[in-house]
Amino acid sequence: MSQHVRLDIADGIGVVTIDRPEALNALNDQVLAGIEEAFIALGRDASVRVVILTGTGKAFVAGADIKAMADLSPVEACSFAQRGQRIFNLIEDYPHPVIAAVNGFALGGGCELAMTCDIRIASDKAKAGQPEVNLGVIPGFGGTQRLARIMGRSQAKYLLFTGEVISAARALELGLFNEVVAPEELMPRCMEIARTIAAKAPVAVSLCKHAVNAGTDGTLGDGLELEAELFGRTFTTADQKEGMHAFIDKRPAQFLGK
Ligand code: CAA
Repeated sequence: MSQHVRLDIADGIGVVTIDRPEALNALNDQVLAGIEEAFIALGRDASVRVVILTGTGKAFVAGADIKAMADLSPVEACSFAQRGQRIFNLIEDYPHPVIAAVNGFALGGGCELAMTCDIRIASDKAKAGQPEVNLGVIPGFGGTQRLARIMGRSQAKYLLFTGEVISAARALELGLFNEVVAPEELMPRCMEIARTIAAKAPVAVSLCKHAVNAGTDGTLGDGLELEAELFGRTFTTADQKEGMHAFIDKRPAQFLGK
């Protein structure tokens, strides 16, 4: 694993920590490689049900590494964006929920990284934004696309055009953050949510993620068709039988993840 990214797994919960505080966790080659390695390792570990992604120090991630990008050619810049997008897609496509624990600045590539996660819980010290226009560039790791999908085109355009860095409270209002808590409550709250999700039927949770991700960008009809197919698929699992019979028998369900 890259020296700047740690992966800890315990009790079905993976915690990925970006640890390059001296550069506010800016995304250079090593950090990107570390995120990629972490999600490949998570994909191979059948025990994991939920992942929390966070940063050390005062930033979640303050963006792609400006010092590493400054002298890129147009072709190199395009391929850097494609690499970042491909690695971020590993998070979005990871079959179990990923929670961003946004501990501080989530700017540029950091905001884009948080947006690949399924749920974003933030410290009240966090700040978010897409300040790329201050640098003469546009977001390259999915910001123009995911910001608009999360908060609507109009609010997204406002943030993209102005480069404004917004407070955690404003990000909550805009639907960018799901919840804002005191800094010392951030990891306990994320662990609480992770444990809640980890106790549910894993295949069902995973298919919920797939249905939303794959079904909500097309027509409602296509999304409903996908949902019905995935609903049917849950009836191939032992957990469906267990969950429904446990309800009927008035006892807690014991899910096996199959
Ligand atoms: N890239 C490289 N280094 C960065 C960085 C970044 N994105 N953000 C911060 N750093 C470095 C600083 O250069 C500084 O290093 P030195 O001590 O060697 O000078 C160190 O981290 C600490 O940063 P500051 O001294 O600036 O800390 P601050 O508290 O005064 O300010 C901040 C914090 C407001 C977040 C400020 O660091 C900042 O504006 N950072 C840049 C944010 C930004 O523009 N992000 C978008 C990047 S472009 C992008 O991400 C494109 C894309 O979509 C792919």
